[in-house]
Amino acid sequence: MTRSLMLMLTLGLGFAMAQDQEYVAWMKAAGGSMGPLKKALDAKAGKEAAEHAKKIEAAFAKIEQYWAGKNAPDAVKLAQTARNGAKEVAAAAEAGHTDHALQSISAITSTCKSCHDAHREKAADGSWKIK
Ligand code: HEC
Repeated sequence: MTRSLMLMLTLGLGFAMAQDQEYVAWMKAAGGSMGPLKKALDAKAGKEAAEHAKKIEAAFAKIEQYWAGKNAPDAVKLAQTARNGAKEVAAAAEAGHTDHALQSISAITSTCKSCHDAHREKAADGSWKIK
């Protein structure tokens, strides 16, 4: 009885930690693709830019699911906005409209700060935590 309860707690904690690590990986995938995306668009390399934008879109789709599971509608909405922005950028870049794609990047970047302010906090050791 006590043992199975301990086991459940351990598994639950392990699951929560794995989920947070996954979350950071998605966030890094999205954030890390922003620079290369902009560079490719500046160089008018539409196809390459579209690949970066699609990575960002996929990462924000996961991020959206994460927040849907946490019952945080504001974060879901921000992740959706970022995902739709990335989709638009990808479509424009793929069609060779790199100028339009560059303008649409703001639809993605407009979400970063709002969500970080609302859902990210600094832990005592200086690392970031989800809240
Ligand atoms: C829907 C909410 C949300 C949106 C939108 C969002 N973020 Fe985040 N981001 C977070 C949270 C929460 C964390 C903290 C995760 C952690 O470190 O545990 C985070 C962490 C990060 C990190 C740090 C990862 C690490 O620990 O090294 C980077 C980089 C990042 N975000 C980039 C971005 C960029 C760039 C954008 C906009 C293009 C963005 N984020 C949009 C919620 C969001």
